[in-house]
Parts: sequence; C-alpha cells; structure tokens
Amino acid sequence: MSDLILTTPGRVRPRRLRRNQVIRDLVAETHVAPSQFIVPHFVLPAEDAVIPIPSMPGIAELGLGNLIKQVGSDLELGIRSVLLFGRPDDAAHKTPNGKAAWAADGAVQKATNRLKSEFGDDLIVMTDVCLCAYTDHGHCGIVQDGYVVNDASLAPLVQTALSHAEAGADAVAPSDMMDGRIAAIRDGLDAAGHENVILLAYAAKYASGYYGPFRDAADSAPSQGDRQSYQMDSRNALEALREAELDEQEGADMLMVKPALAYLDVIQAVRSTSTLPLSAYNVSGEYAAVKAAAANGWLDEARVVRENLMAIRRAGADQIITYHARDAIKGGWL
Ligand code: PBG
Ligand code: ZN
Repeated sequence: MSDLILTTPGRVRPRRLRRNQVIRDLVAETHVAPSQFIVPHFVLPAEDAVIPIPSMPGIAELGLGNLIKQVGSDLELGIRSVLLFGRPDDAAHKTPNGKAAWAADGAVQKATNRLKSEFGDDLIVMTDVCLCAYTDHGHCGIVQDGYVVNDASLAPLVQTALSHAEAGADAVAPSDMMDGRIAAIRDGLDAAGHENVILLAYAAKYASGYYGPFRDAADSAPSQGDRQSYQMDSRNALEALREAELDEQEGADMLMVKPALAYLDVIQAVRSTSTLPLSAYNVSGEYAAVKAAAANGWLDEARVVRENLMAIRRAGADQIITYHARDAIKGGWL
C-alpha cells in the first residue's frame, strides 16, 4: 500500500467514490431507517391534555386521545415503535414506594391498552419501567436511611413491569439500574404467563447531566441526593461490558446504552461483545442542545441531526430511541 502511493502518486484516489451523490449513496456504509426508530412519549392521564415541554421544542406531554392521534400519524411516517413514560394520575399521590407506578388504571397502563387495541401488531409498545416519577423522593428505587436499597426495590419494579404486561405491552424496559432486576422481572413475567413479553434492558445507563429536560418533563428529579449510587459513572467503559453481560445472563432480549452521543465508544464496545440487538438512547439533553443551537441559527439542524443519528448507528446501535425521529423523516434528513 505505502509502496503503491510512493511510486505512483495519483493512482489511489479515495475521492473517486465521493464524486456525486449516487456514488456516495452506492458506497455508504451506514443507513438510518424509520423502522429503527423508537419514539418516546410522555403520557398524561387526562384525555385531551397537551403540555409542551419548554426545554424540548416540538415535544409535548400528551393525554391519551392526543397520544393515539400522534402515534397514528407517526405510523404513517413509518415509525412503528414507541416507548411510554408516565406520571401518576391526578388523584394518585407520589408515595415512598411509588405504588402508582403499577396502578392498573395508570396513564401508561391505559395508554398501552388503547394503543394496542387501536393499532395491534402494526405497533410495538414498549414501556419504561421505573419508580422515579411515582416516588415522593424522586429516586428510582426504595430509599432507606438516605440510601436507595437494591433488593427491596425489586418487588415494586416487578409489579410495575407486570402491570404493563397485563395492559398488553410488547416490551418492558427497566431504567432503574438496580442489580438483579432483569432476572427478577423475567421470572415475574414468566410466572404470570408473559413469557413472550420482550425485556429491553437499560444495560449501561450513565448518571448524566443530559437527562435534565426529561426530569423537568417527567417531574422525576430526586428531591435529595443524586443517582450516582445506582447509575453508572461516566469514567467507566469496561464496567458497561460487565453490566451488559449480566443483563444478558439474566435474560435480557435487547440491550441499551444511554445516553448515546457522549458514549459512542460504549455503544461500539457493547456491540462488539454481545450479539443481542442493541439500542441507544439519544436523550432529552442531547435533543435540547441541538434544538437550542438551531433556534439561534448556530447550527443547521438537518445536517447535525443526520450526523448525530448516523454516528449512533455507525458506532453499532441497531435501534435509536430519539425525539428527532418525526422531524428527521418529515424533513428528509436521513
Ligand atoms: C428515569 C429515566 C430517565 C430517563 C429515562 N428514564 C432520567 C433519569 O434517569 O433521571 C432519561 C430520558 C431522557 O433524558 O431523554 N428512570
Ligand atoms: Zn427512574
């Protein structure tokens, strides 16, 4: 190779494959397709509610009726998977154990039921399994003496996953980061006859400043302390492989790395050590940062979103959980 270049300069020209759009498309290594998108939704209990999220322009919390409409029009764009987040009904209160998380008539449970009866197998309904939007302290597990205890947090998480499965969820995605919750949830689902419900593990979820806008929207910020005793430390990548391996052994069907853009190395590492489908969560703060810069005219949104989505796929993610999906498809940015 080096010989060739030295003796015959000009023979090797990588630019030949960049000459025009058709050639570039022909040799492109990476593609993003609508079928690879999973779109998050914040579900409100009230039927007609629409509450825009100020730090996430273009995204709103939606009541059930509006959610059905939004998902219906997204389906026409080719978006076939959703990830549901909820909050307690107005009548329900946040409690120490977050019991509103597994109310059979909670917003997520009702939305799951409605979406599946409306769209059936055309739509994959995934649900986020966590307690933080439902606990009065805002942590993802049970708090004892100021510490988020692990094992006592498993039962309520299993209950929550079960309530989503009962409502018809195709997949449940635990985001709490307690140890052993994948095994506990798998066993709980199987014992209740939900052996076909898919388990998408937030395998490597980092304690991140990029969750800020989401926490405002979901009203799920911890009232005291932070999540560093259960979410991962951003300095660690090998640990992500241990987390992924454990979740796989415990019965996860799919793995997730979160956030995405500051963790592309982690996506690549997990991709090269596991054969399970791998999702990456392009989180709220990553979305907000692009939107804010674009609104100021500092970045070209179409180009930057395309670049970010390609980077996530290039790193090795099979699915992308992203708030950009609708704009990207409509705008022809892919
Ligand atoms: C809570 C949860 C968070 C996100 C998804 N589930 C926030 C957190 O851990 O504090 C973040 C999603 C986003 O920022 O888009 N378990
Ligand atoms: Zn949580």
